[in-house]
Amino acid sequence: MDRVLVLGAGVIGLSCAWRAARYVQVTVLDPAPGSGSSWVAGGMLAPVTEAWPGEEPLLDLGLASLERWPGFAAELDAIVDDGAGLRTEGTVVAATGAGDRAELEAVAGHLERLGRPVQRLTGRDLRRLEPALGPDVRGGLSVPGDLAVDNRMLLAALRTAVDAAGVTVDRRAVAEVRGDGTRVVGVRLADGTELAADAVVVAAGAHSAALHPALHGLVRPVKGEILRLAHRPGALQPPSRTVRALVDGRPLYLVPRDGSGLVVGATQYEAGFDTEPTVGGVRDLLRDAERIVPGIAEFALHEVAAGLRPGSPDNLPLIGRIGPEGLLAATGHGRNGILLAPVTADTVTALLRGGPVPVQARAADPARWEVTRERVDQR
Ligand code: GLY
Repeated sequence: MDRVLVLGAGVIGLSCAWRAARYVQVTVLDPAPGSGSSWVAGGMLAPVTEAWPGEEPLLDLGLASLERWPGFAAELDAIVDDGAGLRTEGTVVAATGAGDRAELEAVAGHLERLGRPVQRLTGRDLRRLEPALGPDVRGGLSVPGDLAVDNRMLLAALRTAVDAAGVTVDRRAVAEVRGDGTRVVGVRLADGTELAADAVVVAAGAHSAALHPALHGLVRPVKGEILRLAHRPGALQPPSRTVRALVDGRPLYLVPRDGSGLVVGATQYEAGFDTEPTVGGVRDLLRDAERIVPGIAEFALHEVAAGLRPGSPDNLPLIGRIGPEGLLAATGHGRNGILLAPVTADTVTALLRGGPVPVQARAADPARWEVTRERVDQR
């Protein structure tokens, strides 16, 4: 396998291209590299605080990727100083009302049953750790292993890394993946040009399903609004850890950025390919964030944006072979794209080389949907 096309220059596509370029000739195609959900994201590496009962394979995959992050970041650091902006201060989770505390308790119990205990804290404990937290915070958890990166620094570092690795970044838009009936032969561009390839990796996030029929119905956009705030002189200092919270049942996160920034996210709803932030979404985020960190009222509001998470039917990504020979998916990462970049890149590279995939990535094999489809077709 010599020529590989990666469709999508977000964190997933660039990570796959960077790793694969050690062994094969890679071109990444994207009309607007690094401008999608990877740019909008908060940058959390949070397998534990994103864990939900029933999603244990996703937790295992997330932990396998989190384990890879220090090495992945160190390799980027060798190319670009502090390339990923990795923050190791950890995460606290805060709850306000009784309902939110009960829900956190359920999550803590679930993690305990999985053998991953988290530390329960009172509101006072939490304020001792993070004085920015307000009096409405009544209790919560400490999860020191859930980390964060600066997703925008990461994108810039990955661009430098792929350039250094000899990857071509082509800004032409792809219309579809082309095959000869049994295997992939390349792609057709929006301008009609055909590009030949031995393998095509679809890493186009929420836009992936349109690129090949094998992905139809398996990836959908899940909208999320997110804010970027900046500390101003005289305002209370922002938290040093990532703060996640439940506010009257609504999940919220505040991710510190080096210096004085704070990323506040995120709403989550199905609205097709709409990336326009709404007044109601921004209002909810600001109101909830102010209850958790009252000092943000004095911060500057620098940015309001909305991104499209690539949702999959079972919340597990699609990483692996799908459809005709030579077609690979690296998409459907939902809320966890930044976290899952290293394990996705390792899996895609292993498949391109014909080697074994990381064991935790087997659950993300898209074949799980092909089996379901065959059953439906046979009915
Ligand atoms: N990773 C958090 C989110 O998707 O909002």
